[in-house]
Amino acid sequence: MALFMSKSISGFSKLSKAKKIDWIVTTYFSNSEEARTIIEQYWNTDAKIQQLHDEFIENTITNYYLPLGVAPNFLINDKLYTIPMVIEESSVVAAASKAAKFWLDRGGFKTKVLSTTKIGQVHFIYHGDVHKLRAFFKHIKPQLLSDTASITKNMADRGGGILDIELRDKTKDKKGYYQLHVSFETLNAMGANFINSCLEQFAKTLKDGAKSFELFSDEEKKIDIVMSILSNYVPDCLVRAEVSCKVEDLTESDLISGEAFAYKFIQAVSIAEVEPYRAVTHNKGIMNGIDAVVLATGNDFRAVEAGVHAYAARHGRYRSLTHAKVEDGIFHFWIEIPLALGTVGGLTKLHPLVKLALELLHHPSAKELMQIVAVAGLAQNFAALRSLTTTGIQKGHMKMHLLNILNQCGANEMEKQTLTEYFKSHTVSHSAVSEALHHLRSGPGVSG
Ligand code: HMG
Repeated sequence: MALFMSKSISGFSKLSKAKKIDWIVTTYFSNSEEARTIIEQYWNTDAKIQQLHDEFIENTITNYYLPLGVAPNFLINDKLYTIPMVIEESSVVAAASKAAKFWLDRGGFKTKVLSTTKIGQVHFIYHGDVHKLRAFFKHIKPQLLSDTASITKNMADRGGGILDIELRDKTKDKKGYYQLHVSFETLNAMGANFINSCLEQFAKTLKDGAKSFELFSDEEKKIDIVMSILSNYVPDCLVRAEVSCKVEDLTESDLISGEAFAYKFIQAVSIAEVEPYRAVTHNKGIMNGIDAVVLATGNDFRAVEAGVHAYAARHGRYRSLTHAKVEDGIFHFWIEIPLALGTVGGLTKLHPLVKLALELLHHPSAKELMQIVAVAGLAQNFAALRSLTTTGIQKGHMKMHLLNILNQCGANEMEKQTLTEYFKSHTVSHSAVSEALHHLRSGPGVSG
């Protein structure tokens, strides 16, 4: 019983990795040796690579693997790409690949970066006269820039840096609440460290400067800095990706005409534009593609997720990120999405697989990566909507999920081969697979 009672520990972070594992396996597992074996099985045999992973985060005990797949045949602005994708869900890579192949013969994807501005804020409380605060801001603004000159020098030399600093009065939302709302250009860097360093210096300059500002009363001199942090909401770091073709070229089979397909497809998108329950699932499908490329290229998928969903709700209702229309006989399908990505700094120089993924993508700039990631999202949504509005999602998804089910059922290699062949002409479901495996094992085999 005592084994499963939670136990606290002091000084865990200071223990060696071996001691941490000892404590974990003996405290939480009924079979501690089995748990230790699993943990050790996932260590990298190359000690240098393992150490690299150990040091990415804190209290590392082992590695958690996700598959890295690739989706070929993406024609983006007339250049061919094979896109790396890190994801655990079956059918996502196949769907992206299928959509890429479909659009390859129809002119490919056209993309454009619309803007690249990122935002950071110093949040502070001031209970004095707003006119005096405005005068103080005017007075201190040049010093805010000069005090951060050493931080911004390299970025400015490359053409980026601080674009603007505004004083924002938020007192309608919260008593005494003001901000320095700062816009940045961080070029190929995602920019989190750069932005946060600038903001923390702004906060210091602001607080210190207020103490000696002549117009302020003693109370007004006590500006209360709450925090300084970048925002992951980046509606002005925006990229657009689009596909288009003649309506009659939209179909590959005789089962549905191009007109009927375009009609159903546009209906599906417009439902996601008005119905939040559908919009969330619709956008989840888009994020299947986006997150997979963001992860493969060592970017921060939590930041991207948070920013994208806020953008989807920017008009006060959560909506589809993609749009579709037919105009003059041409079908158009497009996405506009905020993406703050980096191709330098962070994991990009550290993680061997991230380096590999970036080389596979021809060493993109951050702007190019924004376009590739937006395309992955659009392609994913196209594939999902095409299935949803024609065959239904389960047919293709379950076909791709077959190996997972066979593994869950403990099928051996021979059984997997036989049943993969069998399910080319039968509908996949968990029970159908388990039944077919049972038949195979019990003698008569599977047929038909
Ligand atoms: P299919 O027509 O049966 O595939 O489609 P195929 O065997 O005829 O192959 C055609 C092409 O598909 C291949 O060309 C590949 O590009 C790709 P080829 O390589 O032969 O020249 N393809 C594959 N690529 C890699 N590995 C494979 C593979 N199989 C096909 N094993 C497919 C099958 C699954 C692609 C199709 O049914 C499909 O696109 N389905 C959509 C699946 C999907 O969207 N999955 C996402 C997960 S579901 C979800 O979470 C999101 C959702 O809820 C979002 C929403 O509601 O909007 C649906």
